[in-house]
Order: sequence, then structure tokens, then C-alpha cells
Amino acid sequence: MKDIHALLAQMTLEEKVGQLIQISPSSLGVFAEITGPAQEWGMTLEEISRVGSCLGATQAKHTIPLQRKHIEDDRNHIPLLFMYDVIHGFRTLYPIGPAMAGSFDPALLYECAEMAAREAATAGIHVTFSPMVDLARDPRWGRVMETCGEDPYLASVMGAVQVKAFQGEDISAHDHLASCVKHFAAYGGAEAGRDYNPVEVSERTLRQFYLPAYKACVDAGVRVLMPSFNDLNGVPSTANTFLMKQILEQEWGYCGVTVSDWGAIAELCKQGVAEDLKEAAYKAFTAGCQIEMMTPAYYRHLVELVREGSIPESAIDEAVLRILKLKDDLGLFEDPFHGADEAKGEAMFLCPEHRALARRAANETAVLLKNDGVLPFSKDVKKIALIGPFAEEQKIFGTWNARGKAEDTVSVREGIERKLPGAEILCAYGCGNHYTDTDTSGIAEAVELAKQADAVLLCIGEPQSYTGEGKSRTDITLPGPQAELVKAVTAANPNTAIVHFSGRPLVLTNIYDSSRAILHMWMAGTEGGNAVADLVFGDVNPSGKLSMTFPRAVGQCPLNYNYTNTGRPKTVPDEEFQNYVSSYLDCGNRPLFYFGEGLSYTTFTYESMTLDTHEMTEDGCVTVTVRVKNTGERAGKEAVQLYLRDMVASAVRPVQELVAFEKIELAPGESKEVTFRITEPQLRFWNAQNQFVSEAGEFRLMVGYADHFHFADSFRLIK
Ligand code: GLC
Repeated sequence: MKDIHALLAQMTLEEKVGQLIQISPSSLGVFAEITGPAQEWGMTLEEISRVGSCLGATQAKHTIPLQRKHIEDDRNHIPLLFMYDVIHGFRTLYPIGPAMAGSFDPALLYECAEMAAREAATAGIHVTFSPMVDLARDPRWGRVMETCGEDPYLASVMGAVQVKAFQGEDISAHDHLASCVKHFAAYGGAEAGRDYNPVEVSERTLRQFYLPAYKACVDAGVRVLMPSFNDLNGVPSTANTFLMKQILEQEWGYCGVTVSDWGAIAELCKQGVAEDLKEAAYKAFTAGCQIEMMTPAYYRHLVELVREGSIPESAIDEAVLRILKLKDDLGLFEDPFHGADEAKGEAMFLCPEHRALARRAANETAVLLKNDGVLPFSKDVKKIALIGPFAEEQKIFGTWNARGKAEDTVSVREGIERKLPGAEILCAYGCGNHYTDTDTSGIAEAVELAKQADAVLLCIGEPQSYTGEGKSRTDITLPGPQAELVKAVTAANPNTAIVHFSGRPLVLTNIYDSSRAILHMWMAGTEGGNAVADLVFGDVNPSGKLSMTFPRAVGQCPLNYNYTNTGRPKTVPDEEFQNYVSSYLDCGNRPLFYFGEGLSYTTFTYESMTLDTHEMTEDGCVTVTVRVKNTGERAGKEAVQLYLRDMVASAVRPVQELVAFEKIELAPGESKEVTFRITEPQLRFWNAQNQFVSEAGEFRLMVGYADHFHFADSFRLIK
């Protein structure tokens, strides 16, 4: 270990500030002349040699020479931190965030994130800007594709498990790296679902719904945190002392590193809270943002701010020590390449074990939304038609794809060719030139093909380029003529099923009635096509559940399952209009598909739910036992979900909140009991005085999925 205090003591103020600067690899001048920010900002070679971290280098053949030169050039020989967005895989990609959350299988996500860390570490990456745990309630927002869904508890579990998987027991190990939780906070609450838009939520709502997942990652030991672009209740997160000091440091005890989002410090000027870069540097630094990503506010003004007495040098020292400690804990002073090894990476990337894991993840996250029995298809089909823009599409892995490539990715067609080598496979794009315009000229050919086939798989959805950063949409229906294609093809051949790819919940209302089966794959990763073949032909029984609500109409957004009742809830069937209650003239309140929903090829009967007591004291607990039976003909997995409702409290409470879950596997005819233990801390909520309390009274437990419960029973908390 390095004596970082002695190292700090020998550093000049300029060198300390250098540790707070993050630039791109092109700025470090190893490959060619210096380009990028360092050139634009006019940095000298000496100033470049002081820089503390770099983002964007993804190959050992770059990180190794960069590190070697940097250590040589820096007077203090301090190694660089290499940071990158390893979100759902590095070269072998597993499904995107909401899909993985919908597996309801934290152990699976742990294995996948460990694989990502193993692969990324061979490239010399030390920190991943992941997990992203922003609460996602509005599918108009393109970044829902990175999240862990709309539920605070599910996102907390899935965020924390990624931190532990990326970091392992020791971040200096060559197959682990440091994790950065983002984007703190409430970035997913952007007004109107428009990326970067302001977020206005009460402190109570912030604490109740938006903050828990970040806190779970802090409690899991995350080493880095990234504040969000948005302003929160009028103050940009990057300069928000309530968030970064009061909550993050004072309440949660976080003492790790914080890194701004790309350009977010300079953007304080555009947001109108800083007159100029100097004020932006002052506000961001004093709020607790230690590293500036890709803009020159710190580079240009921090030394000046210290010299003029606006910022004490001790504050700079404290920030630098956090960064030096991270570098030391990574072992970089003794082992600056941290296991970077191009050959090791090339041997590991896409290896059979990694592909097998990616395939298993795609299988476990697929959600069967509808099925009248048309799926699974028989393997005896002689002629199968694959129709639609995703029949041969290899871009089914999401936009945070790191070093993942389309050519590595198994398309639906390739997956089915492998599954049924003897079958004749007919393909039709079905959507004219491109499925995002209204050209219906391809439908006629698709219909003719459908008529010839024994079975038809419609492969539809939204381009992966339609979700991700800066990709909000006002219309979240299927792009282009796909709905017409579905109607025409399903009319031409009844033995038709749909496989659907998207990075966000789409409004599928206009194809629902004409579809016999809908298998939702999200963006399924490198092995997506093989998983579709496994699932469609029944080698794998779907077991994924929705981690985000699918609205019936975009006008319902934001729409989340953990809603409160209002004083005038509807009391008639949802499709009926009811006057003077909380409803719409032209649409029901209910979604098309619900949080926690997902079908199987078998049937599960919930036989009983029993509570061991109906009264609980503060130091007591209620043990809930749920008995589930597989009453179908196939083995299958079921995510048993337990929901809670606080019937009466000092503030309105949701009609249902996920409080526990367990995924079980059952053979045909097999029954299993799942036991959950509910204790008083799980009954706490943020009250109107922003206190985290539980209140005596009745609580109801329900088992099933949102708005669809098999059993409910109540107990009282006695205080
Ligand atoms: C982007 C994203 C952030 C990412 C960072 C570095 O703007 O907002 O999630 O980690 O820049 O790529």
C-alpha cells in the first residue's frame, strides 16, 4: 500500500488539481499528436502529465502505453484511473437493465456483472460507470433501457448486487473493478420524459421512491458516484449540497469519489446557476463533486479559487486523498496495469462459457406477455417464416454496448437455423425500405410468405437506436407500418407468434387483439437469437416478469404500479367511463401489461398463503408462507412476489409495494413453499415530516403481481 498522505504532502497545488481532471485518451498524446480537450484547452505537456483519470480507453493496447507514459511523465508518478461505461457487458453483452431486473434473479445478474468485470479488466479498465439505478416511471424517457425498472426495492436489490459483482471482495484483483453508481439523483423523473429535463419532486417522494436504490449501492460499498445532469427542485445535482453533502455524506456516510457527468459542471452556466466557468467550478467543487469529466472549469479555475481564498486547500487535499485512496485500493501504485492483457481478453471475449451465460440471461429475462397456446411451436415445422425488421437484425443488444459488436450477435434467423437445421426458413422484412417510415409496400410479400409457412414468427419492435441517452419519444407505439404488418400477417396465417424487441415499454395496444402470443425480449444481448429459438420452440420455458409497466396509451404516462388511491378511485371496470373519479374520458387507468407480470408455458397454482401471526410488535416479525404448485405439463420457474399495503397512515401510501421476492423452479406437479420474513423496518415510510417511521395499524400482504393477487391477508403492527 502507498503512503498517500506522504504523497499528498509532496504535491503542488497544481498537481493536486490535476488529479481532479478527467479527459479522453486522445488528449494524453500517446497515439499521435495531442487532440481533444487537452488541445482545445491549451494544456501543456506538464499539465497533461498531472491529469488523474481518463475515460474512453477500451483496449489494453492503448491503456498499457498510456499508463506507462503517464507514470513516467508525472513528477509524482501517480497512475491514471481508466473509467468506462460497462453497463450490461463488455464484449459479451447480456440483456439490458430492465430485462435483467425482470429476471427477479439477483444471482444471475451477479454472474453477468462479474463476467463484465472480468472482460473489462483485461482491457485495463479500473472503474465502470455502472450500475445505473435511476427509477424509471416514464417510458418516453430513452434511458429507461439502462435502469433496473420502476420499483425502488427491485432496483435496490439489482443495483447492490451489481456493485458487489463488479467490485468483488478486493478491487485490486485483476478480475474486478470499482463501480460507479449513477445518476444521483432522480434523473428518471425528468419532466415529460424528456432527457435532461428538470425534476420536481417533494423531498418525501424523493426519499420514498427515488433515493433507495442509490443508498443500497452506497451500503453495498460502491466506490464512485456520479451526480445527474438534471436540476432537482431547481438546483442541478452537480451543485446540489442537499444531495451531495446532507444526504450522501452526512446521512449515508459516503466517503468515496464523485465524478461529474460529461460536461455537467460547465453546463451549470447553461442551467443559469453559474455566471461563468469559475463560478461553476466553485459551486460544483464545494457541493462535493471531486472529478470534472471533460470540461475545463477545474483545470482553469480551481488553483485560482484556492489562491484567492475562496476554497481552502484542505478541501482540495480531502478530495485528492479520496482519489489517491481509490488508486491505492485498486493496487495501481504497485500494479498500474491492473492485469491489462490484450491476449487474455481476446481469449476470454465471447468464449463458450460467456456466450452460454449471455444466452441463459436472455432466456431468463424474456417475458411472455400473451399466449393462447400457439407457443411453443413444434420442432416438426418444415417451413417457418420469419417476418419483420428484427428477423435478421443483429442490433439487438442495446446502445451501451462497450466493445460488443453486431457481428458477434446471434440474430433470430441464425438462432432458428441452428435450432432447426432441417427446416426451410423464409424471411421477409415486411416493412418497405425501413421500418421507421410508413412504407407499407413490403406487407404484400410478407403475407404471401406467411401463407406458405407452417408457422410464422413476427419479429418486430423499436430500433435499439431509439433508446439510450438523448432518445426520448412522444410516440411510443411500434414505429412505421409494423402494426399493419402484424394485422395482415396474423390474418394470413393463424399459426403466428410475435417476438418483440425494444429498449423501453412500447404501447402495444394496437396489435394486442390481433396477436395470439407476444414474447418480449427487451434488448437481449449477444445471444438474443439463440434465446429466441430456445424459447419459441420450448427448450426453455419463459420466466421473466416486467420490471416496468407497459401503458395502454402514452397519455397515461408516467404510469407506475405503486400508485396511491386518490379520494375518488374508479369503482367500475376499467374500460368503462365513470364520472367524477380519477380517470380519462378516452382511456382506462390500467396499463396493458403490469409490473411483475409474465406468463409461462406451464401453469402455477398458488395454493395458500399463511401468516404465522396477525399481530406484530416493533421487535417482532411476521412469517409468510406461500405454497405454489406447478399444475402444468412442463417444468418452469416462477418469481413469487410479495406485496405490502399500509392501509392507513399519516401520509398517502401506495395500494401495493413489492416488499420481497424469490424465484423458484418447479417440476410438473411439484409444490414448494416459499417463506418470507417481514419485520418492522420494512413497514417504515417517509412521512409528511420527512421522518422514516412505521406507524401502528393494519398492513395487508398480497402475493401475485401488481393488481393481480392470488391471496391477501392482514396483520396489525402494535406499538
Ligand atoms: C454520459 C452519460 C453517463 C456516462 C458518461 C460517460 O453523458 O450520462 O451515464 O457514464 O457520459 O460516458
